[in-house]
Amino acid sequence: MISPLTVAADAAPLQLGLPTIRFATPADDAFVEELQATAFGPGRFARTAFRVRERFPIDTSLSLIAEVNGTPCGSVWMTPISVGGIDGYMLGPLATHPDFRKRGAGKLLAKEVTRIALERGEGSFVLLVGDRDYYCPLGWVPTVEGAVQFPGPVDPKRVLVYSSDPTMAARIAGPIRAFGASRVS
Ligand SMILES: CC(C)(COP(=O)(O)OP(=O)(O)OC[C@H]1O[C@@H](n2cnc3c(N)ncnc32)[C@H](O)[C@@H]1OP(=O)(O)O)[C@@H](O)C(=O)NCCC(=O)NCCS
Repeated sequence: MISPLTVAADAAPLQLGLPTIRFATPADDAFVEELQATAFGPGRFARTAFRVRERFPIDTSLSLIAEVNGTPCGSVWMTPISVGGIDGYMLGPLATHPDFRKRGAGKLLAKEVTRIALERGEGSFVLLVGDRDYYCPLGWVPTVEGAVQFPGPVDPKRVLVYSSDPTMAARIAGPIRAFGASRVS
C-alpha cells in the first residue's frame, strides 16, 4: 500500500507557501474541471491526448491534487495504456492554477504521480506529450520520433518517456492500446 503523501516536514510548507500533494477525491472534480478549462481552454477537447483518454479511462486512484496552505492549486491524471505489448501510463493533463505557478507544484505532481504509479509494479513507463525543457530535467527522455502511434497528430519531438529501464526510450513503439492488451490478445 502506498504511504500517505506528505512532501516535507509539517510546518515548513505552511510557512513557505510550498505545495503539498494528496490524492484527489470526487469532491475535487469541479476544481479540476475548472483548472483544466483555465489551463488548456476549449481546445483541450481536440487535443490528441484527450482522444487517448476518451478511449482508455484514467485511473482515478492515481489522480493527485497539489495544495498550497490547504488551497487546491494543481492537478494531474494518469491513463493506463500499453504500447508494443508493454504496460505503462500516459501522464496528463498536468496543470497548475495561474495564481500558484512557479512554486514547484507542477514538477512535484509529475514526479510524485510517476513514482506512485511505477511503484505499483504493474507498468514500466510513463509516457507524455510535453515540452522537453520542462520534463527532461525530471528524467523524461525523447522517444524515437514517430515510434509511438497516437490516435491523432502529435509533434513527435514532444513524445517523452520516463522509465527505470534505460532501453525503454529506444524501443517503445507501436499504437497506444489498452493497459494489459498484450495479455488478452
Ligand atoms: C506547465 C505548468 C503545469 C507548470 O506548473 P508550475 O506549477 O508553475 O511548475 P513548476 O513550479 O514546477 O515549474 C515552474 C518552472 O518551469 C518553467 N516552465 C513552465 N512551463 C514550461 C514549459 N512549457 N517549458 C519549459 N519550462 C516551463 C517555469 O518557467 C518555471 O521555471 P523557473 O522555476 O526557472 O521559474 C503550468 O504552467 C500550467 O498549468 N500550464 C498550462 C497547462 C500546460 O501547459 N500543462 C503542461 C502540458 S504538457
